[in-house]
Amino acid sequence: MGIAITPSILNADLADLAGEIARIPSADAVHLDVMDNHFVPNMTFGLPVVESLRRHSGMPMDIHLMITDADRWAPAYAEAGCESVTFHAEATQAPIRLARELRALGAKAALALKPATSIEPYADMLSEVDMVLIMTVEPGFGGQPFLDVCLPKIRRTRELAKSAGVEIAIQVDGGVSAETIERAALAGADTFVAGSAVFRSDDPDQVVRKLRAMAGG
Ligand code: DX5
Ligand code: ZN
Repeated sequence: MGIAITPSILNADLADLAGEIARIPSADAVHLDVMDNHFVPNMTFGLPVVESLRRHSGMPMDIHLMITDADRWAPAYAEAGCESVTFHAEATQAPIRLARELRALGAKAALALKPATSIEPYADMLSEVDMVLIMTVEPGFGGQPFLDVCLPKIRRTRELAKSAGVEIAIQVDGGVSAETIERAALAGADTFVAGSAVFRSDDPDQVVRKLRAMAGG
């Protein structure tokens, strides 16, 4: 599996999402942070906005659900044609059932872990998902510093997948920038969310290309 750069529009101009996505043509997908003000102390947008955006952009959509009761809400994003749907381990009652449902609807299924959540309880279900998202900040806001304390979990996830003989992507999200991407890649991540590093730049697409090169892609 190659390197993927999936910029987050959380810190972009939310009134012009389609325009912002058009500024990152080199990206592999756009990472859309759905927040409900319950699972995280912040609120963004939900399905109606994602459905509208789908009609305005051909860029693959990587949905990161930071919402309670993901079991109830996640499948609709797959039905809307989103390529990848990520649910949090801490907010899902039946992760295996949900992953199977998402895959049956034609989306990639991904399991996200907050910084203090271990991968080990989920080791036996790695074959049920396409990706594990390892948060490298506490979810809720862009622009926070990268938590190096999460690097060993990236390594352990890569090792667990290898010993189980499954091919999964490992995505890191939070504080990813030119200063931090190399150590995340070295630990075993291959899919990188970057929000402020990309959209606070005057040339977001150049940052996407630079991050890809730094990650070894
Ligand atoms: C945080 C979100 C991230 C965030 C990343 O809860 O999940 O996707 O937008 O932003 P940066 O790259 O600025 O940390
Ligand atoms: Zn995210």
